Amino acid sequence: MRAYEQIHRASARAFIAINFSANTRSRLLGLRDELQSNSRYGKFSPPENLHLTLAFLGECDAKQTAAAKAVLDALTFEPFDITIDHVGHFKRDGGDIWWAGVRDNTALSNLQSELTARLHGSGFMLENRKYSPHITLARGVVSEYVFGKTEPLRETVTGVELMKSERISGKLTYTAIHRRVALRH
Ligand code: 2AM
Repeated sequence: MRAYEQIHRASARAFIAINFSANTRSRLLGLRDELQSNSRYGKFSPPENLHLTLAFLGECDAKQTAAAKAVLDALTFEPFDITIDHVGHFKRDGGDIWWAGVRDNTALSNLQSELTARLHGSGFMLENRKYSPHITLARGVVSEYVFGKTEPLRETVTGVELMKSERISGKLTYTAIHRRVALRH
């Protein structure tokens, strides 16, 4: 797709995510690099693409994008901590998806449930899978590597963002287009 068409496209793939501080991002990058140096093949996420998805919206037109922004604006939550403390993978033919996992966390699941309930209420059709919070480190991975114990990595969540996903010159690019900040932050 040419740049002109991209700018003027009426709809965009969107999702709602938690983005990380520079420190957490660089620690996640360390895990990604460890995986990369122990893999035969894989497409490894660039640092700016490392995030935790709360809800995947799919293609959204202008009206749906406005509705998603309104849903974020109505969301209320206090800042809370999450801990990333393990690495796992989903088996796939042709290469696995490897991710960093988040320890069970009530504040996170409450936020994710409230968000999905509000999105449903606004007419969004979401996948009905159990939420499994993960940060994708790489896709299409061929590796027999076994991670040792992961040093727990703590992040304070102070906001959630509506993200646009697009291919720009062949590169998967995520851009935050709206942010909801936690209360008292
Ligand atoms: P993933 O990393 O496990 O693929 C942008 O694609 C974000 O939305 C990613 O974090 C991705 O998770 C998530 N996502 C959830 N469901 C998706 C779907 N059906 N298609 C694409 N991405 C999805």
